[in-house]
Amino acid sequence: MKKISALLILSLSLSLNNVKADEGMFLIHLIGEKTYADMVKRGLKLSKDQLYSINKNSIKDAIVLFGGGCTAELVSKEGLLFTNHHCGYDNIASSSSVSHNYLRDGFWAKSKQEEIVCPGLSVQFLIKIEDVTEAVTAKLKLVAQNEITTKLPAILMEMSNKASEGTGFEVRVSSFFKGNQFLQFTYQRYKDVRLVGAPPESIGKFGGDTDNWEWPRHTGDFSIFRVYMDSTGKASTEYKASNLPYQPKHFLPVSIKGLNDGDYAMIYGYPGGTNRYETSFGIKLKNDIDNPSLVKLREARLKFMLAEMVKDPAVKIKLASSYAGIANYWKFFDGETKQLIKHNVIGLKQKEEAAFVIWAKDKPKYNNLFDSIKANYDAWTPYAKSKVYFSEGIMGSPILAFASSLKTLETALTSTANSQEAINKAIVSTKSNYDRFIKGENIASDKNILAHVLKAFVMEVEGYQIPFDDFYKRIKTNYGSINEELTYKRFSEALFENSFILNESKWNAFIAKPDTGILKRDIAYITARAFADNYNNKCKPKFDEFNAKNYGFQNLYLKGILDMKKGSVLYPDANQTMRVSFGNVKSYSPKDGVKYSEVCTLSGVMEKYVPGDYEFDAPAKLIELINAKDYGQYVDTKTNDIVVSFITTNDITGGNSGSPVLNSKGELIGLAFDGNYEALSHKIAFDGELNRTICLDVRYLLFIVDKLGGAKNIIDELILSKK
Ligand code: ARG
Repeated sequence: MKKISALLILSLSLSLNNVKADEGMFLIHLIGEKTYADMVKRGLKLSKDQLYSINKNSIKDAIVLFGGGCTAELVSKEGLLFTNHHCGYDNIASSSSVSHNYLRDGFWAKSKQEEIVCPGLSVQFLIKIEDVTEAVTAKLKLVAQNEITTKLPAILMEMSNKASEGTGFEVRVSSFFKGNQFLQFTYQRYKDVRLVGAPPESIGKFGGDTDNWEWPRHTGDFSIFRVYMDSTGKASTEYKASNLPYQPKHFLPVSIKGLNDGDYAMIYGYPGGTNRYETSFGIKLKNDIDNPSLVKLREARLKFMLAEMVKDPAVKIKLASSYAGIANYWKFFDGETKQLIKHNVIGLKQKEEAAFVIWAKDKPKYNNLFDSIKANYDAWTPYAKSKVYFSEGIMGSPILAFASSLKTLETALTSTANSQEAINKAIVSTKSNYDRFIKGENIASDKNILAHVLKAFVMEVEGYQIPFDDFYKRIKTNYGSINEELTYKRFSEALFENSFILNESKWNAFIAKPDTGILKRDIAYITARAFADNYNNKCKPKFDEFNAKNYGFQNLYLKGILDMKKGSVLYPDANQTMRVSFGNVKSYSPKDGVKYSEVCTLSGVMEKYVPGDYEFDAPAKLIELINAKDYGQYVDTKTNDIVVSFITTNDITGGNSGSPVLNSKGELIGLAFDGNYEALSHKIAFDGELNRTICLDVRYLLFIVDKLGGAKNIIDELILSKK
């Protein structure tokens, strides 16, 4: 380990006095004595070395970054992984067809031979963490302030590449406290991960989007995978029949002892992002423009997708994963703004900012900081809507998003500097983009989305920010009035009729011998370029300027906060690095007169059950088991029922999905899978009273695997802790 910067020690390992113990996503290697003592006080029965150690095997060795943005944990000596159903969703859907509909019916491998290969899926193990603040700071000294945001990613990438060269590891440098600290993380990636089990969607996604982000929750949100190593014991670089099940340094025993309100709960994982030091100005923009615009556009896209999905199981499989992703954060951002307003988070931030101004009054470098921040937001705000309407609207039409990506190919073909090698590379990546696009493309819904977003853009975005000459003028001439829905329907029909992109033989001929002439005459390409160029010319420069300045201001603000709060615990914002959070299983009161209990059970599934419903149907086999009360060793003796899920006070966020919830002895009691509606403002402000993490009870997982899936082979691999 390189030396840890003084600031980091100060900010991360000092007293916990003024932080509620359940707030905080702690960097796993920097848990100080005080924090550890607090964990012990809350109930932890493990040594610090058992939590994390670089020399010895510890719990961190059982935790992986799963796919692009979830967490999973090892639960057997043969590389068995538990994660959420919604984390495995894309792979379950990709493995499904109308005749083998694993999404609808579930899937259970009864032997290793039956496991399903998941191309493109990988998991990453954390190997080590080093502080590189000094090295990054030295490099940044050579960069002009207004260029830091554009140059920083390349600087970090170069450092990462250099550090990983020839090691077989992947290295990523992450920024903490808005660029006041930098840590370098080394990972080992395994690329052969296979699907072992998944419940039917009517269990894994029971309650659908209606129940998403809400408690009480009756979703069996889990799926099971296995990670493989190569036949010599090294990390797998691809699927090979000769690969062997991975042998973990540590795996988690599974507790079926049950839980009580107040029990210790600890969660390891990879939270993706929070912005707890956001300013009042940032929240205002989010509430006024960013979130409502995104929500409105997603609502429309979802409506058009769902209309086709309910008609045809093949379309359902095709669109399921992208629908779920869009819907998840559609509801999140809607709820986030509602909670930010309800809890007056702007007011809270203004108070913090006022306190900062008083603290900073004799420190000239902070002079007028908030005036500058405000001026920067004022300059950007008029453009903010057009950015969202471009990214979530225009680029929300899959065909336009794909057409827009063809620019890279055009550039490779026309640039004189580009070699044949560069052109070939662009062709290869275009082909793989195309395969992905076609796999998820449903023409009927895309046609409606396209017509909708083209109209929404011109209606909602300021006139001087629309591509009038390059697009709407021609619409007016050829398709009808700019204000009418029918105009865009006509245009959308014409686009899908005439673009070569969706004509298989024309596309194949094109990609075999790409010709920029064909590309530049294509109606989808012309449309996508009109909007992309419009964005690049009118909006992006403003955004880049805003962003660069804002980075500088936030960096300075955080420098001040670290100084001002010296001596108290400050945990850094989540950024997809491994964190641990601790708290307790805990009931709560969402509003006056209402008390939510800390667990919910299968009887609630029966209360919500609506036969044949899109979200609240349940498998006949599950209902039989419930009626027979055939719960076996997984029964909860207090409720004489199966506990489906429970809630804890832990501080987590998106990316923690699939994370292990551990008891005081480090045994698995559940899988974190959601947050509650009343605290959806949690990315910006943690609410010590209302915040809850929603966790699948591992006993429900085992019950489904065993009794519904009949997959005793999976149960037999686990170490069950019964008392
Ligand atoms: N809200 C959950 C999360 O972000 C995802 C739940 C998926 N379920 C759903 N109905 N979309 O981790």
